[in-house]
Amino acid sequence: MVADRTACNTVCRITCRTTDIDQPPYLPHPTMSTATISPRTPAITSRLPAVGTTIFTVMSALATDCGAVNLGQGFPDFAGDPKLLDAVDAAMRAGHNQYPPMAGIAPLREAIAKKMQALYGHGYDAGSEVTVTAGATQAIITAVLALVHPGDEVIVLEPCYDSYVPSITLAGATPVFVPLTPGTFRPDFALIKAAITPRTRAIIVNSPHNPSATVWTEAEMRQLEALLAPTEILLISDEVYEHMVYDGALHQSAARFPALAARSVVISSFGKTYHVTGWKVAFAAAPAPLMAEFRKVHQFNVFTVNTPMQHALAAYMADPEPYLQLPAFYQRKRDLFRAGLAKTRLKLLPSSGSYFQCVDYSGIANEARSLPEAEFCQWLTREVGVAAIPLSAFYHDGYDQHIARLCFAKKDETLLTALDRLAKL
Ligand SMILES: Cc1ncc(COP(=O)(O)O)c(C=O)c1O
Repeated sequence: MVADRTACNTVCRITCRTTDIDQPPYLPHPTMSTATISPRTPAITSRLPAVGTTIFTVMSALATDCGAVNLGQGFPDFAGDPKLLDAVDAAMRAGHNQYPPMAGIAPLREAIAKKMQALYGHGYDAGSEVTVTAGATQAIITAVLALVHPGDEVIVLEPCYDSYVPSITLAGATPVFVPLTPGTFRPDFALIKAAITPRTRAIIVNSPHNPSATVWTEAEMRQLEALLAPTEILLISDEVYEHMVYDGALHQSAARFPALAARSVVISSFGKTYHVTGWKVAFAAAPAPLMAEFRKVHQFNVFTVNTPMQHALAAYMADPEPYLQLPAFYQRKRDLFRAGLAKTRLKLLPSSGSYFQCVDYSGIANEARSLPEAEFCQWLTREVGVAAIPLSAFYHDGYDQHIARLCFAKKDETLLTALDRLAKL
């Protein structure tokens, strides 16, 4: 046992432990010449060996190289409201440029809680139940790392957004894949039930859904509520497209269902709602005991989210019109896009929410109809000049259905140019 610091090696820890004496020194000995050391990066074992560059990055780069219309990656090609942009400028000039509180500035958390109360009837406490995050992606990984333990299982419904599985893997847990019904992409509760084991800690649900553009119904949410009621399973509810639900349907937030809200982390993203995906500002809402754990992780993976954007969003949210108008705004684009696609040989799948439209390309005149999805999308980008995302990218095993996802969060002229090109198929 090391009794005092002088007995240690040349570099001492403040508190010596019995094992210290067996360890090599942490720094080179002061007399060792660095000229004799050849630079060497130690070998590492990847925490995420299966992960490469995402398909979104790959397709966006290809679209740029080929001068293709980029309907691949999900982001608008139009600007956000000038009022919101001006509010950022005003916030910066008003001196809101230093660290904000860890959980987000109070006015923004209060605005989020007020909106959720008004829309979904659930009263979240802005002080202890709402946290502003650096995008929904950070909220998702934070929820998983905070609430899921090594050895746990987390159910993911495929196809799914690509950050879910790496988040689960990094938590040391096991993703359990349950397919949404092929063709309709509706949840199959018998399959979900069969996937539940004593180790199931959470299920991740995403509605409106990326990539299939389906929206869960009230009846489906009630089925989920009943299924989870006798269990200790948490719900991570990814609702980033909460304001993009069409044809008069309502977004069925988990916050609407008290028994679900009590076990849920509800996540949404200002990037989607206000056409500012690059700002990476989002939020999570959850009962206080879940949120307390969420914040423990949040404070060490980002600590805080940029201040001027938070002030701008808080001021802008005083007016509910921008998000209340969003369904009409995107429904018009969806209808314009679908009307044009209906004239092509692409088969349209329903698009009830989100800003995506999936198409089945197996009936096109070109021989490319028999290509697997990833190759088809590359062909479409290079030869037709329209970038799309293969649905297989949203499945862990690359399940192929001859379906491509197109994003219609674009200026009308962008959509019309793309339609003109797709008409040749
Ligand atoms: C379903 C889904 N969840 C989460 C995100 C991430 O949102 P953010 O950009 O706020 O991180 C996206 C973005 O495309 C998404 O489609």
